[in-house]
Amino acid sequence: MAEMLTLSRHILQRARQHQEATGDFNLLMSHIATATKVVSRMVAKAGLLNVLGKTGDTNVQGEQVTKLDIIANEMLQAMLDDLPMVSATASEEDESFVPTSAGATSGRYLIAFDPLDGSSNIEANVSIGTIFSVRRRAEVGKTPTEADFLGPGSELVAAGYAVYGSSTMFVYTTGQGVDGFTLDPGVGEFVLSHPEMTLPDTCTCLSINSVNRHRWMPGTTAYVDRVIARDEPRYAKTTGRYIGSLVADFHRNLIYGGVFLYPADSKTPGGKLRLLFEAQPLAMIIEQAGGAASDGQQRILDIVPDGLHARAPLIIGNTPDVALYEQMVATHG
Ligand code: AHG
Ligand code: MN
Ligand code: MN
Repeated sequence: MAEMLTLSRHILQRARQHQEATGDFNLLMSHIATATKVVSRMVAKAGLLNVLGKTGDTNVQGEQVTKLDIIANEMLQAMLDDLPMVSATASEEDESFVPTSAGATSGRYLIAFDPLDGSSNIEANVSIGTIFSVRRRAEVGKTPTEADFLGPGSELVAAGYAVYGSSTMFVYTTGQGVDGFTLDPGVGEFVLSHPEMTLPDTCTCLSINSVNRHRWMPGTTAYVDRVIARDEPRYAKTTGRYIGSLVADFHRNLIYGGVFLYPADSKTPGGKLRLLFEAQPLAMIIEQAGGAASDGQQRILDIVPDGLHARAPLIIGNTPDVALYEQMVATHG
């Protein structure tokens, strides 16, 4: 029988080769993975559990909160709360970071997550996901502060996501490439299905909410027009794909090649997506898969966030296509 390389075994094997080679880090990663399995189960049963719909509240981003957002948030927090190596967590759904019960002062790691990304799609049974990142505290032995979270993405020690699609997948990196796992629902384990994921060198998908065109900056319009003209060999076969769940759009483009854009525009001049919870982790993954992520002017991983909920424009995908966007913005503004 073929060998079954589960996520836990893979983490153990990888741990022997990288700097976070500690039992602590491995336990942390498996708790995150377990939390995503629970969320996956809840997403799958959502229609039966009466957890669809909005709570009527708005979150710190001013957006409507769905019940599953809250449930996923609580699940991740609970799974991380009793880990002594975790000092604090920060979530897209919470205004402030949350110190853990077990490791607030002693823990080495800080975890940031978007518990449920793409939640506007939940009721329509469209793919959604969870995005996370792990960073190390500069100093342990003191109470965690918000500033501890506000480092550039280049300092992340790990990042990943789960996508709850036609199957549930878990994709992660510790800075040594990207590996993808598919949940075997019978066994209840993530099994290595996409080892050493790299971006194919083709711009198959252009992903942008084109209804926002009237709000775009001239450089964005010029870029999109150039790609969709399809008269350059690189863009001859490019097609449009946009789900509205960043994690699902990202995952598809990682598989097929392409570029995803949530650019700065007249409504959101600083971008819509969140640096800590969305842009940094996906930027680490795309670079590890051979691609690039930019805010239009600089590398996402170099940006120092000015708050937990800082936002950034996000242009992410194959390197030549991200570079062309930067060039168009430099030329047209
Ligand atoms: P979230 O569900 O975590 O709030 O994120 C929603 C984000 C992201 O998933 C997606 O790419 C983007 O919003 C879609 O925005 P538009 O509907 O403005 O295109
Ligand atoms: Mn999101
Ligand atoms: Mn979310």
